[in-house]
Amino acid sequence: MDISTYLKKKQTLVDEALDAVLPSSSQRPGVLHEAMRYCVLNGGKRVRPILCIAAAETFGTPPESVIGPAIAVELFHCSTLIHDDLPCMDDDDLRRGKPTCHIQFGEANAVLAGDALMIHAFKVLAESGNPQLSTELAMAAGSNGVIAGQVEDLAAEGQQPNADLIEFIHFNKTAILIKAAVRMGAIAGGAEESELELLSSFGEKIGLAFQIEDDILDETSTDEVLGKPAGSDHAQHKMTYPAVHGMPAAREKVEQLTSEAIAACNQLGRNTDTLQSLARFLMNRKF
Ligand code: IPE
Ligand code: IPE
Ligand code: MG
Ligand code: MG
Ligand code: MG
Repeated sequence: MDISTYLKKKQTLVDEALDAVLPSSSQRPGVLHEAMRYCVLNGGKRVRPILCIAAAETFGTPPESVIGPAIAVELFHCSTLIHDDLPCMDDDDLRRGKPTCHIQFGEANAVLAGDALMIHAFKVLAESGNPQLSTELAMAAGSNGVIAGQVEDLAAEGQQPNADLIEFIHFNKTAILIKAAVRMGAIAGGAEESELELLSSFGEKIGLAFQIEDDILDETSTDEVLGKPAGSDHAQHKMTYPAVHGMPAAREKVEQLTSEAIAACNQLGRNTDTLQSLARFLMNRKF
């Protein structure tokens, strides 16, 4: 199966599962549930849940067996996007081609919809029945993970370029969740410790490459293609990988990390064609 067919199939599976676990907007308070649905069921690429599913499939575990953990990661991711776009953070008005949550529903509702989605993620994950997976997501999501990255990302605005700092920010705000998605799929699939180590390395490297590419696209693409405001990093004086290392080095680093990720897959001794194709797809993506 070619990778775009694989992605479409899995996106449909993920979208249907997300629709099914989100409360109906007819439930009170309607505005909250409408905001949650608006920010999830809106055409995200579903990179993280698909990586989780593909990692599980590497061990012969079918998508249906890991769909709960997979969508839990996506629910958490969507909550971070709502908060990331708020006026007090990146102050962006476009997400996935539509007005951001706070533009559509007001700032207070956006904060609360983000909170509610984050909590819903852990409910869905708890119901999937493997406490180890809840720990994985919590460790990646919290104050030693995504939230740490977001805090330092904001604190770094307008600061002098710093290679260690951009590494810390990228690892925490983005790579750690992508790594967790892969690890959760591998754990659900029954990976052995040595296999988990290799896939952790795979996840971390594609996660770092993913954020560098996001920084590159912010500088080089358009609102229409990205579905979010191009040039936002410059406007917010963000510390980005191209700002620290230059654009040619950024592009090289994406390729290098992707090659290293593929090399980790090749050491696994299993069929990792899908994971490898996903790594290449992410490197070459346009949005
Ligand atoms: C955007 O993530 C936030 C980053 C970590 C760069 P995605 O590029 O996966 O966004 P969606 O989910 O497809 O909208
Ligand atoms: C987002 O980084 C990281 C999280 C949402 C945790 P960015 O701020 O670069 O993401 P975009 O570019 O707004 O999607
Ligand atoms: Mg941000
Ligand atoms: Mg942002
Ligand atoms: Mg960005």
